[in-house]
Amino acid sequence: MMKNILVTGGAGFIGSHVVRLLVNKYSNYNIINLDNLTYAGNLENLNDIENKPNYSFVKADICDYDKICAVFSEYNIDSVIHLAAESHVDRSIKDPFSFAKTNIMGTLSLLEAAKNIWNNDFDNKLFYHISTDEVYGSLGDEGYFTEKTAYDPHSPYSASKASSDHFVRSFSDTYGLPIVVSNCSNNYGSFQFPEKLIPLFINNICKSKPLPVYGKGENIRDWLFVNDHARAIDLIFHNGSKGDTYNIGGFNEWKNIDLIKVLIKTVDKFLGRKEGESEKLITFVTDRAGHDYRYAIDSTKLKNELGWEPSLQFEEGIEHTVKWYLENQDWINNVTSGEYQKYYKEMYK
Ligand code: NAD
Ligand code: TYD
Repeated sequence: MMKNILVTGGAGFIGSHVVRLLVNKYSNYNIINLDNLTYAGNLENLNDIENKPNYSFVKADICDYDKICAVFSEYNIDSVIHLAAESHVDRSIKDPFSFAKTNIMGTLSLLEAAKNIWNNDFDNKLFYHISTDEVYGSLGDEGYFTEKTAYDPHSPYSASKASSDHFVRSFSDTYGLPIVVSNCSNNYGSFQFPEKLIPLFINNICKSKPLPVYGKGENIRDWLFVNDHARAIDLIFHNGSKGDTYNIGGFNEWKNIDLIKVLIKTVDKFLGRKEGESEKLITFVTDRAGHDYRYAIDSTKLKNELGWEPSLQFEEGIEHTVKWYLENQDWINNVTSGEYQKYYKEMYK
């Protein structure tokens, strides 16, 4: 069946992988990538597919309701995969307003546009909202987040994502809008902006710059290769139950400091340095305010209902990722020029 899918945030990290997968896999779908090209959005991420006949790009702000309605009409949109967001916890601590604006008001504007333009004709329509495991809060040493875990966000980022999830579900309950939500753990892979732990640290190790480890480096994250997230999104988009939620994660928990040592070992190996040479770059710095201790996703439902499993072992994914950043120095140099320098100085002064 033919589809016209609006992917928001398609020029960002995860969005670009989702757009690439859909454009290449479904020549009968039109993929309309709507992105405002903030500091985190970069059309270079999509160079390889930008000339495909089933791909279009629209530069727009998801908060601009009139523009979003116009795009729905012009492209006859029947499905939305909504990834556009402000996504970095540290930035949310410095500037919570922009997180409320984009993540809450932007999502609401998309929901209103979908409801009003589809005008109660919800056959073959879907609003798929991409969210995060951070809405569930922080775990102790035991247990996992399931789809039934109560929301308990702690950062302005996770609070804004939690609010957007509630709005999406409210549109299903109140207006019958066909929705699906997925909540994923931390992603890693190519094209991630080097403000997040893994690309930031790979870049700093390469350049022999200090590695700013928050607190004692004992916080735990559950890491998933971004292409596996994109595969899960494809599956949930096509086969997920309407109104339902799916958790996505790889059962792959790492204490930050252990993960950092793996990054050091891998980068040093590729650069022909002595094993562990860059460990001297580790610098313990003041902890992040409200730093969640542990995230761990139980993705059993996704496995049992839709047959999804991660495709890669972590070591393989990290090797692949390190290699990509080392081989794409132009990309790194482009995204870290200009505004990034100011951000870096301000954040790690
Ligand atoms: P990202 O910051 O790399 O990309 C966000 C994209 O959204 C950028 O291209 C940016 O230009 C665009 N954007 C921002 N504000 C916009 C606006 N007002 N209008 C239009 N476009 C706008 O983020 P990401 O890491 O790719 O995350 C994508 C989604 O996945 C987010 O919703 C995030 O909450 C969620 N998520 C991310 C992770 C992760 O580990 N990165 C994990 C789980 C869920
Ligand atoms: P991050 O990649 O920002 O993802 P999130 O906070 O959304 O999980 O951070 C991952 C972990 O790494 C988190 O526990 C914070 C820590 N961290 C550092 O220790 N130093 C850093 O410079 C950054 C960016 C993160």
